[in-house]
Parts: sequence; structure tokens; C-alpha cells
Amino acid sequence: MELFIDSADIDEVRKAASLGVITGCTTNPKLAASAEPGDFRKRVEEILTVVDGPVSVEVVDETVAGMLSESAEYASWDPRVVVKIPMCLAGLEAIHKLENERHVRVNVTCMMNSNQAAMAMMAGATYVSLFVGRITDMGYDADATIAETAQFIERGAFKARIIAGSMRGVGDIQRSFLAGAHIVTTPYKLLPAMVHHPRTVETIQEFKSAWDEARQRGDVG
Ligand code: E4P
Repeated sequence: MELFIDSADIDEVRKAASLGVITGCTTNPKLAASAEPGDFRKRVEEILTVVDGPVSVEVVDETVAGMLSESAEYASWDPRVVVKIPMCLAGLEAIHKLENERHVRVNVTCMMNSNQAAMAMMAGATYVSLFVGRITDMGYDADATIAETAQFIERGAFKARIIAGSMRGVGDIQRSFLAGAHIVTTPYKLLPAMVHHPRTVETIQEFKSAWDEARQRGDVG
């Protein structure tokens, strides 16, 4: 069970990393576009100084040659950069070449069902990213998709690890892990939500008040 931070915003990544529960980072072109303006390579290099584990960087070219060229650039930035390739026919060819010929780790992304994940794994994917929120938005059972993919990994003895992304709430995080995801990548806003419970806050305050009152009475030193 691992948590990645799903962000290209260095302040968010820094805040998430300070909690001590994050072991990687995923970015995508939309997250990169919505983060603070600036040189994207520098931003990824900053993220690499804050996060100890893998950092996913996604290609945008839609041709095999273009994907391979972008991937070579991103992979050259740091050994911990994992290239994100979206699920499509050109992507499959790129995945196979990157993983099996160029030994570049690939996070296959934008996937909505276990058939796509199976194809990605047969092409050699290191990570398979299932978009839980978008799957659910369409009325499909994201938990079943994760569980099916986990079964495929076992039956095919694939090396791939499942990343559950597209998180909409803490329930998505919980259910994704229970369904068999190895990793959940979450936006920063869900981290405080994972921690907060009103009864916990009340209990902490109750204990502090009791102690403060005892101190005021001189009952405790
Ligand atoms: C993670 O790798 C995905 O790119 C991300 O979680 C997608 O989230 P969204 O469906 O909210 O855009």
C-alpha cells in the first residue's frame, strides 16, 4: 500500500511530502498546465528533490516516434522519472519498445477498464493507472476493475503495479486499496481529509482541557 501525490504544484508536493506518507508523484499535462507557470523540467527536478520515489511525467505526442522521443527526453532528466504513456494503439507500441528495448519504466495511463490494463501489462508496463473517478462517473464499478486487474497480474505473473488515480474522495482511496490497488495517487486536498475526524478533534480537546484544569488545580506538575 503506497500513496503518491497527484500534483505538479511544487508547494502541494512539498506539503504532502512533509507528512511522511508519500512515496511518489504523478503529474499529467492538465496538472502541469494548472500549476504555477514556469519551466516544466525545472518543476519536475524540484519535485524530485522533495519526493524520494518515482515521478511520472506524461507524453503528449500521439505518434509512436513522438512518444519515444518525448520519453527519451523525460527519462534523461533522472532515473526516478517514469514516463506516462496513454492507452492507445500507438501507446502500446511505444510501451513495448520503452520497457523491453530501452529499459525505460512506463506508467500506462488514462485507463478505464481491465482489458486496457491487460494489454498494457502484456506490453510490459511497470505501472497501470486506472482512473477510478472517471470510471465511476460513467457508472461502472471501479472496484471491480481494480480487482480484475489484480487477478490478471496474478494469472499473468506480470510485474505491473496498479495505481488507482482520479480520486474524488477519501472513500475512493479506501475502496481502491481494499480492491487491490498497490498505489493510490491522490490530490493534496484528500490528505487532510484522510486525517480529519470531528470526534478525534473533540477527544483531543477533551484530554487537553482535563490536563489544563488539573494543572491549574495543582494536581499535576
Ligand atoms: C493520475 O495519474 C491521473 O493523471 C489523475 O489522477 C487524473 O485525475 P482526473 O481524472 O481527476 O483528471
